[in-house]
Amino acid sequence: MANWPYPSHIAHRGAGKLAPENTLAAFRHGASFGYRMFEFDVKLSGDGRTVLMHDATLDRTTSGTGRVDALTLGELAGLDAGAWHSPGYAGEPIPTLAAIARYTRANGFLVNIEIKPVPGHEYRTGAAVALDALSLWQGADVPPLLSSFSEEALEAARKVAPTVPRALLLDKLPADWLDRLRRLDCVALDSNHRELDAAVIARAHQAGFKVLCYTVNDVTRAADLLSWGLDGLITDAVDQIAAQP
Ligand code: G3P
Ligand code: MG
Repeated sequence: MANWPYPSHIAHRGAGKLAPENTLAAFRHGASFGYRMFEFDVKLSGDGRTVLMHDATLDRTTSGTGRVDALTLGELAGLDAGAWHSPGYAGEPIPTLAAIARYTRANGFLVNIEIKPVPGHEYRTGAAVALDALSLWQGADVPPLLSSFSEEALEAARKVAPTVPRALLLDKLPADWLDRLRRLDCVALDSNHRELDAAVIARAHQAGFKVLCYTVNDVTRAADLLSWGLDGLITDAVDQIAAQP
């Protein structure tokens, strides 16, 4: 992308750990600290609908149990995705991608949609999320930034919605990381911050890629990364790391 349209500070899963991750309440909390861009995780319900959920199973962050794809969207709608965090958030629902599109677009916020397939559903999740991103953000000034650890999901997204920008998530940088970004026609590397230093960021920039990283919760580390030219910092610490205006 010639003109990088995304802010340098991105709230992780809405508001990190301060509110129940991947719920609308978390987005609202992150926004209250001045954050204007949000990372969140999307996968498919049993009936193929795009919903926000990090884990492949419901147990940790909802009142349900078992695999997310064992339930339909209607069944997921009956679960509580807030009470596990704290009583003040009891009753918070699992959001659909469509609900998040409505909220973020109405408020002028930007999004980084992490495609997080339930294992075994990589291709169809990548395709479904990318198609929804295309239609839900139709006419938006700035498109969602898609990202995934799954190269298969990113390949599917590239195929069905080539105009929606993609970033490859990498927990460790393999020797061929630049080739992988090129193969998937990505605009950015999205790395575990521990893999980054000034030289890696410069190498990515020289090759024409932007650089994002997760999950940086230390103020000094955040300042170092940004001083090296980091383009996007994903953080839980929305109350400590000030979002740039
Ligand atoms: O998208 C960056 C980051 O969210 C990746 O890790 O496990 O928090 O989804 P995770
Ligand atoms: Mg994520």
